[in-house]
Amino acid sequence: MITLSIIKADTGGFVGHTAVHPDMMSEAGREIARAVESGLLIDGHVASCGDDLSLIMTHTYGPDTDLIHSFAWDTFQATTRIAKQLGLYGAGQDLLSDAFSGNLRGMGPGYAELEFEERPSEPVICFLADKTEPGAWNLPLYKMFADPFNTAGLVIDTKMHAGFTFEVYDLYDEKRILFDCPAELYEMLMYIGAPARYVIHSVRSKTLGETAAATSTQRLSLIAGKYVGKDDPVMIVRCQSGLPAVGEVLEPFTFAYGVAGCMRGSHHTPIMPVSAGHAHPSRFDGPPRVVALGFQIHDGKLIGPRDLFADPAFDRARQQANEAMDYFRRHGPFEPHRLPLEDLEYTTMTVLTKRLASRWTPMTTELATAGTSRR
Ligand code: F6R
Ligand code: MG
Ligand code: MG
Repeated sequence: MITLSIIKADTGGFVGHTAVHPDMMSEAGREIARAVESGLLIDGHVASCGDDLSLIMTHTYGPDTDLIHSFAWDTFQATTRIAKQLGLYGAGQDLLSDAFSGNLRGMGPGYAELEFEERPSEPVICFLADKTEPGAWNLPLYKMFADPFNTAGLVIDTKMHAGFTFEVYDLYDEKRILFDCPAELYEMLMYIGAPARYVIHSVRSKTLGETAAATSTQRLSLIAGKYVGKDDPVMIVRCQSGLPAVGEVLEPFTFAYGVAGCMRGSHHTPIMPVSAGHAHPSRFDGPPRVVALGFQIHDGKLIGPRDLFADPAFDRARQQANEAMDYFRRHGPFEPHRLPLEDLEYTTMTVLTKRLASRWTPMTTELATAGTSRR
């Protein structure tokens, strides 16, 4: 069995929250090379999307393992040191704890991990997003694994007819549930259509008995109790041979669907599929970006990446994202561009509520300074 882990953190932005500095990428690359040499990792690759640095790693230790998580933690400490030396913005932003203990759960970095028996040919796609949240994967995962208008294999490949089991987390109450699809599609949609709270954590093929997809599901704001930046998500999807084909896994991103995030993590905006070279959101800290790095895993080695959104077939989605961005921006501070109050991660409303508490009076009382009382 091998494990594919993507562990990511924002350990400092260059410039502002737009990108990762090349020196931080090199430092992470050196750490990965050392870990491969020492035998901890079979292979590793460093990537970024916006201000988030991702360690894409293969190993034999399984998910949630101390050894791998502590390696990632130490690497993020090293990139934080560089961010501090260069005075980069928000150095160490996602490292919420002073010391590592056991695994990264609740400590700030996000991770998606999948353990599997390598198939004779093992195509996987690592999705990295910036300026949005883990629930942003709900819509594309639904399309990939449950929508025959997206995935032709659901109709044409008999290995998909039995369907897929979706594991959904309730991030508020820290509970989870399994939905047996297609039988329970409609029930599931009631939940995953509210992606701020309900997030698809994994998807499993009923025929193959294999887990096909895994996402990162941490919410930093819930962990830290206050706004500390968006928990920009990552996702692993295995493809082909009874699972959605590479093209079926990418197809949902031809639509620049709306996600929560963007400026101050507080706006609905379209998501834009981009090549790695364009994964640096600068306008209004957005629009949120997603990159798709394809690998063939062979004897645990990461053959790749192929930059899968570096394809003119996604130009229309990018154009649609720009148009939808203009449309949303014109709402300024109004919903539905701005998130509803319950989803706002800044504490502004709490402060305002306290400050203005004494000035709110029942509508039936006279206003001391008003000139036009109706009674
Ligand atoms: C969004 C994000 C940015 C910041 C914004 C303000 O996820 O990280 O949009 O929220 O740039 O940042 P501060 O408060 O650090 O000035
Ligand atoms: Mg940042
Ligand atoms: Mg980010």
